[in-house]
Amino acid sequence: MTDKIVLAYSGGLDTSVAVRWLIEHHDAEVIAVAVDVGQSTDSTGEDWEAIQQRAFAAGAVEAVVIDARNEMAEDYCVPAIAANARYEGKYPLVSALSRPVIVKHLVAEARRFGATAVAHGCTGKGNDQVRFEVGTRALAPDLDVIAPARLWGMTREDSVEYAAKWNIPIGQSKTKIYSIDENLWGRAIECGVIEDPWAKAPDDPYTLTRVTSSEDDEMVISFVAGVPVAVDNKTLSVADIIDEVGRRAGATGFGRIDMVENRRVGIKSREVYECPGALALIAAHADLEDLCLERDVHHEKLRLEPRWAELVYDGMWFSPLKEAIDAFMASTQTHVTGDVRLRFEPPGVMRIEGRRSPLALYDHGLATYDASDTFRHQDAEGFVRLWGLGVATWSAKQKSQEEGAS
Ligand code: ARG
Repeated sequence: MTDKIVLAYSGGLDTSVAVRWLIEHHDAEVIAVAVDVGQSTDSTGEDWEAIQQRAFAAGAVEAVVIDARNEMAEDYCVPAIAANARYEGKYPLVSALSRPVIVKHLVAEARRFGATAVAHGCTGKGNDQVRFEVGTRALAPDLDVIAPARLWGMTREDSVEYAAKWNIPIGQSKTKIYSIDENLWGRAIECGVIEDPWAKAPDDPYTLTRVTSSEDDEMVISFVAGVPVAVDNKTLSVADIIDEVGRRAGATGFGRIDMVENRRVGIKSREVYECPGALALIAAHADLEDLCLERDVHHEKLRLEPRWAELVYDGMWFSPLKEAIDAFMASTQTHVTGDVRLRFEPPGVMRIEGRRSPLALYDHGLATYDASDTFRHQDAEGFVRLWGLGVATWSAKQKSQEEGAS
């Protein structure tokens, strides 16, 4: 029986060429699996059906499209919001969050079709190969993973030629300057002039953050137990909230990131991102936590957040440490309920104007300096004395030693 390989298929040049390459080099049947994680397929003027047709044209025996937009939002973006996740303090893990979703479906399809291997179109230089492979090994250690683009040694021009030779229609791919990965959580842009860290990031690859409005936009985001549930009192699914917040924030030019980051494979890389929805939701959520989290829990959480982001970036979505930190994060979220008011000022500025919560630990009576003050001022004296006792003892000792020495 011919082996079956399930390929993570995007419809782009590399994965289309990979279909044919796998048939040629592994004598296998290729099942193309395209996972909709909220990427706009219309930026290339294509819909999922066209992508499916291309997979067939490239030689796939099956081409499956899976709608995972809500799954991406609820099972991946929600935990990322809970962890206020930004790798190296900046990047909200756009690509890193979508790979485990894709892996999960690849493995499920591999089981359904009785495949012996999964394949992906990543090169050897990036993080996505790590996420595909470590993720697959976590979920299905028995499956092989094949990475044609790491093996074939073709340049982009070679791939274009290869596609032409096999009559694989490749759309816009020939003229593509940037490598772009996108999903519900935002867009990651690499290559071209961006590879010069000194060069100003070009405007043309941005699509979500072009300023189209000169007016301020004020919005209230509501959370229940850490999950965004409404925008301006309109209850929406998480996926729709991400879209709505992203669309409005993006129209004011908010949401761009320009950074040099450390890839897992040891390369520093200059990348630009646009993630208006992700950045606004994380900022709002983190602000609400200031109001609702008990101090020690909050401080510990701030220490674990970068670790969570790092694990996810490094392809450890399905790993025991990530699971354990998730449990901590989940337990902190039970009290993160309330509203945050944001103001977007074009071009590109966001301010948090206010926050409120029925579970706030903020106590006006304790905080106020006016007559409604309920704070017991007499308690402060003894507390501060004991708080400083160790330092006072140390200082007195220093002084007496200095005096003894002179
Ligand atoms: N550097 C980012 C990350 O590792 C973005 C990767 C984008 N992926 C891509 N295939 N263009 O998460």
